[in-house]
Amino acid sequence: MAQLLSVNVGLPRDFEWKGKSVYTAVWKDVVRGRRKVERLNIDGDGQGDLVGHGGEHRAVLVYQIDSYRYWERQLGRKDFVFGQFGENFTVEGLPDDEVCIGDRYRIGSALFEVTQPRVTCYRVGIRMDEPRMAALLVEHHRPGFYFRVLETGEVAAGDEIVKVSDGPERLSVAEADALLYLPGHSRAQLERALRIPALPAGWRNSFQALLQQGPNQGQAKGNPGLAVVSPPPAWAGFRPMQVSRINRESASVFSLVLESADGEPLAAPLPGQFVVLRLPIQSGAPPVLRSYSLSGLPSTGHYRVSIKQEEKGLGSTYLRTRIKPGSDLEVSAPRGSFTLRSGSEPVVLLSAGVGATPVLAMLHALAAEKSSQPVWWLYGARNREEHPFRNESRALLQELKYGRSYIQYSRPGPSDQKGIDFDAAGHLAVSAFDEIGIPHESQFYLCGPPAFLQELTADLAAWGVPADRIHTEIFGTLDAITPGMKAGTYSPHLPAEPAGFGPQVSFARSGLTLPWNAKYQSLLELAEACDVPVRWSCRTGVCHTCETALIAGDVEYDPEPLDPPAKGGALICCCRPRGEVVLDL
Ligand code: FES
Repeated sequence: MAQLLSVNVGLPRDFEWKGKSVYTAVWKDVVRGRRKVERLNIDGDGQGDLVGHGGEHRAVLVYQIDSYRYWERQLGRKDFVFGQFGENFTVEGLPDDEVCIGDRYRIGSALFEVTQPRVTCYRVGIRMDEPRMAALLVEHHRPGFYFRVLETGEVAAGDEIVKVSDGPERLSVAEADALLYLPGHSRAQLERALRIPALPAGWRNSFQALLQQGPNQGQAKGNPGLAVVSPPPAWAGFRPMQVSRINRESASVFSLVLESADGEPLAAPLPGQFVVLRLPIQSGAPPVLRSYSLSGLPSTGHYRVSIKQEEKGLGSTYLRTRIKPGSDLEVSAPRGSFTLRSGSEPVVLLSAGVGATPVLAMLHALAAEKSSQPVWWLYGARNREEHPFRNESRALLQELKYGRSYIQYSRPGPSDQKGIDFDAAGHLAVSAFDEIGIPHESQFYLCGPPAFLQELTADLAAWGVPADRIHTEIFGTLDAITPGMKAGTYSPHLPAEPAGFGPQVSFARSGLTLPWNAKYQSLLELAEACDVPVRWSCRTGVCHTCETALIAGDVEYDPEPLDPPAKGGALICCCRPRGEVVLDL
C-alpha cells in the first residue's frame, strides 16, 4: 500500500552560501496532525524563487523513502530526516519509474495529479551538502515529481495514497526526466509526451524544440529543449582577414569591408549574426575583443561590419584611427542565434542607432530573395546626420513586393525634412503601431540600446505579441540569471585576489581578460569573481542554463555534463579552460 509518511513545509528565508545570500525554502519542517492543501501550496509552505519553483503545476513536491535508502547507500550517509530532499510529501511507494505523468491520486480529502519531474536546481545540493545532487538525481533516474492540486483538502502523515486514474500514454516520471536531460531524445517518446495534457507548458515547449531539432547525426547539436542552440561556428578561434574598404555611413558610424586574407572563401553567415574582432591595441597587454554585427548581404566573398565611434571607445577608436584599407584583422566565425526565421508572416525590423546593423543584414537577405512577405523597416535616429544606411535601406525596400518604412528622428536638424528624411519627430513607440499599420501577427526583430529594447519588448508584449515572435539582439552583457540570489550591480572587473598563473580567459562582452586561477572550480566561478553577468541554475551540468558560446579555445569538464552542449558552446558551471579561451560573456 502506498502511504504518505511525512508532510513537510517551510517558508523561504535567507541563507548564507559562498559569501552570498540565497533566498530559499528548501529547508522543510515536519507537520504534526492534519494540514490543509490549497491550490498553490500546503498551508505554511512557500517557495523562494517563483520563476523556477511553485505555481499551480508545481504545488507539492513528492519524494520517495525508497530513494532515501538508495542515497544513504550511494552517499554513505545516515543523517537524513524527512524533507531532506526539499520535498513536501515523503512517501512509501510511488517510484519514479512507475508513476506516470497525468496519474491521479487521492490522499486524505485532496485529489492530486502528477505533472512533471523535479526542477533541476542547485538548492537541493545546498540542502544535501552535496553540490552534485541535482545531476545525481537525474543521472540515477530518481528525480521525484510534482503534484498539481485538483481538489483542495486535508492530508496527514499515515494517509493511504489511492490511485484514482492512470495518465494517458503511460510515460513515467523517470522516462520524462531522462527524455529532457539525458542524451537520446527518442522521437517516438517525445511525440508520446506531447500527447499528455497534464504536462506543463514549459516541458511541452522543451519537448517540442527537441522534436523540431530532428535526429542527431553524431555531431553535438546541443539540447534545444534546455538552451537556445546556435548553428555551429564555421571555424574555431580567429582567422586573419584583410580590410578591403572603409565606408562612412553617418556622422558616427563607419563600416569595414573584410575579405579573406588567404583567398579561401568565407563561411556564409546567417542574416543577423555577429563576429568578434581581436584587436592588439596595446603591445604587451592582452588583445581587446569587440563584437560587431554583420551589416551587409550575407556572402562568402566578404563581410561588412559597421561600427559606432564612441568618444572613449577603445575598440572603435583603434579601428577608426589605426585601421586602413589593406590592414589585417583577426576575426571569429559568425555566431549568434538572432537570425531571420523562415516563414511567410510579416517581418518587422525595429532598430535604433547602430542597432540597425543586424536587421540591415536581414533586410539585405529578404531583398536578395525578393521575399513576398510584408517587410517593415522601423528605425529611430537622432537626425539626418546620424542616420546610417539611409539610401541603402530605401533601395532594399524597393526590391521587395511589400516593403514599408517608418523613420523617427528624436531631434531633427533644422534642414531635416519631414516626409522626405523622416516620418515623425520623437521616439519609436508601440503606441503608434496601430496607426502606422503594423500587423500584430508579424515576427519582430529588435536591436538598439538597452532602454529601447526593454521598453519596446515590454510594450510589444502588452500590445499582444507572443514572446516567441519577439526576437532581440543585445550588444554588451546579457541579463544575469541567478535563481534565489540578487544579481550584482557591479560592472565587470578583475578579481580582488592576486592573478592566477593559468591560461588567459577572456569575457568578450565584458571586455575583460585575465589569467585562469586554479582555485576556481569552474569558469562560472571565475566569472562570478569578476562580477561578469552569468546565467545558471543547477551548477552541475544538467540544466544548460549556463550554456555560453565558446568563441575561441577549448574546455575540459569535471563533472562531465549529462547531455553535451552544442558544438562551439560550453557549460561553464562545470568546465575549466584547456588553454586560452574566449567566452561570449
Ligand atoms: S548551470 Fe545547469 S548546466 Fe550549468
